[in-house]
Amino acid sequence: MTYFNEQPLGAPIGTEIVDLDLSEPLSDRAFAALGEAFARHPVLAFRGQTLAADRMSAFARRFGPIMAGVDPKYRHPDTPEISFLTNVDQDGGVDQFGARRASAWHYDGSFSTAPPAAAMLYGIELPAIGGGTEFADTARALERLPAALRQRIEGLQTVNHFGLGPEGRDYYDGLTPERWGQYRPVRKPLILAHPKTGRPGLSFCMIHTAGIAGMRHGEAAELLRELLAHVAQTDNVYYHRWRPGDVVLWDEHATMHRNAGDFPPAQRRIMLRAMMLP
Ligand SMILES: [Fe+2]
Repeated sequence: MTYFNEQPLGAPIGTEIVDLDLSEPLSDRAFAALGEAFARHPVLAFRGQTLAADRMSAFARRFGPIMAGVDPKYRHPDTPEISFLTNVDQDGGVDQFGARRASAWHYDGSFSTAPPAAAMLYGIELPAIGGGTEFADTARALERLPAALRQRIEGLQTVNHFGLGPEGRDYYDGLTPERWGQYRPVRKPLILAHPKTGRPGLSFCMIHTAGIAGMRHGEAAELLRELLAHVAQTDNVYYHRWRPGDVVLWDEHATMHRNAGDFPPAQRRIMLRAMMLP
């Protein structure tokens, strides 16, 4: 039986799942088929959905336990495991942090020893122009690295610390000392085998990867910029142009993503987000 159809979206990653209504609970068989599609395609888009936060939570939980967002301010009041991704503050003004948030290439939870395996966004209000999310294929980027560069990064480990990126502090400055103290540097392999497929990919983050173990900061920052240039090459990226009712689901271990940051901050951009642990 066919539960849905798959439609490529014109980039090396990014596949649309057509004819599947996520507002209804999926049967185990339909969900298994979706899981297979997700293993083959690390970015799945679903259009024209209507999802209340609790229904989004129920769908997200099928993939694994939901990890609440780190900032309590953005949590949904009735469904706190779901967070808002918004540039609108509580008084209806522009939330400047929300507008530029996550516009550097990253994967979620890079600062953590237990990061999410997948995440999902649901578009509610979107800017008329721009406001997209970009996704890049990190395994394909590794396969296409020049041999000398690949050899140079073999065995290296990233050092990740909340809010400390290769270009300096971002989120870090806004942290209260109590929250600042919660985070410790975490080492991870720069080349990471995907926990399910075993396929190796580049694994770093331009928001929270502070550097490379044993390497001077300037040299590490330059190396990460060089690797990013390969990851973010136009022909390795899917740009998702949001419409209200879109759901995008992605594999955190196979991709990097970012807020394309290409919209006027005064235009409302409101989405719901779920992050799922393995
Ligand atoms: Fe993110």
